[in-house]
Amino acid sequence: MKKVKIGKSQVETAPLGLGTNKVGGHNLFPDLSESDGRQVVRAALESGIQLLDTAFMYGKGRSEELIGEVIADFPRDQVIIADKAAHDFSSGEMILNNEPQFLKKSVDDALKRLKTDYIDIFYIHFPDEKTPKSEAVGALQDMRAAGKIRAIGISNFTLEQAIDANRDGYVDVVENYYSLIHRDEEKKLFPYLKDEHISFVPYFPLESGLLTGKYTKDSTFDEHDPRSKNEKFTGESFRKTMNAVDAIRPIAQRHQVDVLQVVLAWYLANPDLTAVIPGARNAGQIPGIARAAEVRLSNDEYELIDQAFAAE
Ligand SMILES: NC(=O)c1ccc[n+]([C@@H]2O[C@H](COP(=O)([O-])OP(=O)(O)OC[C@H]3O[C@@H](n4cnc5c(N)ncnc54)[C@H](OP(=O)(O)O)[C@@H]3O)[C@@H](O)[C@H]2O)c1
Repeated sequence: MKKVKIGKSQVETAPLGLGTNKVGGHNLFPDLSESDGRQVVRAALESGIQLLDTAFMYGKGRSEELIGEVIADFPRDQVIIADKAAHDFSSGEMILNNEPQFLKKSVDDALKRLKTDYIDIFYIHFPDEKTPKSEAVGALQDMRAAGKIRAIGISNFTLEQAIDANRDGYVDVVENYYSLIHRDEEKKLFPYLKDEHISFVPYFPLESGLLTGKYTKDSTFDEHDPRSKNEKFTGESFRKTMNAVDAIRPIAQRHQVDVLQVVLAWYLANPDLTAVIPGARNAGQIPGIARAAEVRLSNDEYELIDQAFAAE
């Protein structure tokens, strides 16, 4: 896979990465197996995936610890770690905290859990309400100067907040919600990022499995399944997404792959996106993700996929 550069930093990575909120993310997903989590990370790295997207919030540090265990078996420069912090539990309840001292301590603590001496990309996970954004980013710039991180990211920032955060030009990458069925950032954020040479990494690229092709219009979820209460998996919204998925099935058939690979190939071909970080629940899902790197969409196919989802 051709490498991509993260913003104006020296970080380069293969663009197909792995989201790891299901690696040790016990506070977010029930019944996760840690052994599955370790195997997911190992299988990803063995298949050529480099970029591992984690956060303190995934298991309150557990995702970082599991990743630290696995990457010890790989050359450090083959792994690109993207980590995040902002959730502060020190008062007994969770608050978002972007204070410089908190962010610096978060980097130091994450380095220990990951058992490494640098983190490739460090994101402010969410903006808080009180810290001036450029001061928060300034704290990460200090950590970069100290060699502890290599690139600076912000996540879940609006355009206005991103402009504030990037006042000194230190921001390399933004990670926000974006998918084929959630494209608000195209008009809002992307023109600014392009002008400022800031990378964009979308999260929820597979819409929690909706865009893998494994569901059809007839799929139903029983009342104990949380998807039965998720509006994207029910009613008109679900029907529209399944129509669009059906419209791109012939492209998948032509390439002899599944919808999942075609969807990931679309993100990889999208000039507004730098990297893509699909999540996986078990190592068995990794070959399907890794195979997306082999799919080359023609311009017509790219447009057809774009239109199938835009039309719905
Ligand atoms: N910055 C932020 O605030 C933020 C917020 C959310 C997420 N993220 C990051 O974005 C990453 C991606 O989000 P996500 O993992 O929640 O959602 P996602 O990538 O949209 O969907 C992941 C789901 O797709 C399904 N899947 C993956 N590979 C498959 C395969 N080969 N065959 C069939 N199904 C497959 C699995 O569904 P099943 O579970 O049904 O098996 C998996 O759990 C996260 O891991 C995290 O790193 C960041």
